[in-house]
Amino acid sequence: MKKIILAATAMLIGLAPMMADASPRDDLKKFRNYFFKMNPGLKLQDYANGIYALDANRRAEWENIEEFPPYEEGIDAGKALFKKYKVGKCFKNGGIGIRQLYPYYDRKTRKVHTLEGDLMACIKKNGFNPKKEKLKFGKGKFAGIAAYMTYTSRGKATNVKIDPSKKSMAIYNRGKHHFYAKRGQLNFACADCHVYNHGMMARGNLLSPALGHTSHFPVWRRKWAKKTAKKKGKSGPFDGFGTIQRRYGGCNKQVRAKPLKPKKGHQNPEYVALEYFHTYMSNGIKINGPAVRQ
Ligand code: HEC
Repeated sequence: MKKIILAATAMLIGLAPMMADASPRDDLKKFRNYFFKMNPGLKLQDYANGIYALDANRRAEWENIEEFPPYEEGIDAGKALFKKYKVGKCFKNGGIGIRQLYPYYDRKTRKVHTLEGDLMACIKKNGFNPKKEKLKFGKGKFAGIAAYMTYTSRGKATNVKIDPSKKSMAIYNRGKHHFYAKRGQLNFACADCHVYNHGMMARGNLLSPALGHTSHFPVWRRKWAKKTAKKKGKSGPFDGFGTIQRRYGGCNKQVRAKPLKPKKGHQNPEYVALEYFHTYMSNGIKINGPAVRQ
């Protein structure tokens, strides 16, 4: 397998056309044409499987794990909490089968709403105190509820609409910028690893394509499960779960940039913007989360 080669100049040339403020539709076309050209054997839906779309051996091993998924208990427990916190009251269709519509821009609040953002607001609105309930964005019980909601959306095609209003476009472009901008001591952009070097190795890891990234979150990661169980001294059903924004934090850390934290009980606006752009790029790909990852 080829090692990651960071030819900065080649990347800059590749980046230039995406950085200008093009229409989201043009961005999407360019974004996927790149992947389709690089991987002529893959169909759009194949990208829902991350690295397992690229490597047959790893895929076989992963399919074995998914036969008896380690997240099953977590989904059941997430469903119980979904009921306990009366989540169905706040969402369209009682909160069932709606993940694919997130994030969306709301013209009334003039904000981009993520599923997790709305979920936290819902729990508060229903009179629960997230601090007392130990509900934190990103992981644990909270991610377990989000994982259950994702599970009920399996098979539905990602359908994010980028509202053309000025404010919405500013958020979209902020997210796009985050994706293409170099950061951290290592000076890597998301796109360096997950677009221009996807399919190559970086420190023993095969790099997944960014197309399809958002279809399977929250994921259930072995690494997270082990770490949490070790910290608590026992394992629980939610240990492995993490939302897409938890993953963003991890990937920021990989390049030695500081992960962005929620602020005053709200998700970090920079990550919300990134999620808006990043999820839109996967429009049409069916939700297949939660999925097991390393
Ligand atoms: C130095 C390379 C590097 C950079 C830069 C990087 N990542 Fe990652 N990322 C990885 C590795 C390695 C993994 C684990 C293997 C994989 O699935 O790609 C990963 C995994 C992910 C995953 C999970 C994929 C899946 O299928 O579960 C997402 C989502 C992701 N990265 C998003 C991002 C975003 C968004 C950025 C920019 C903020 C970013 N990454 C920056 C290396 C990187």
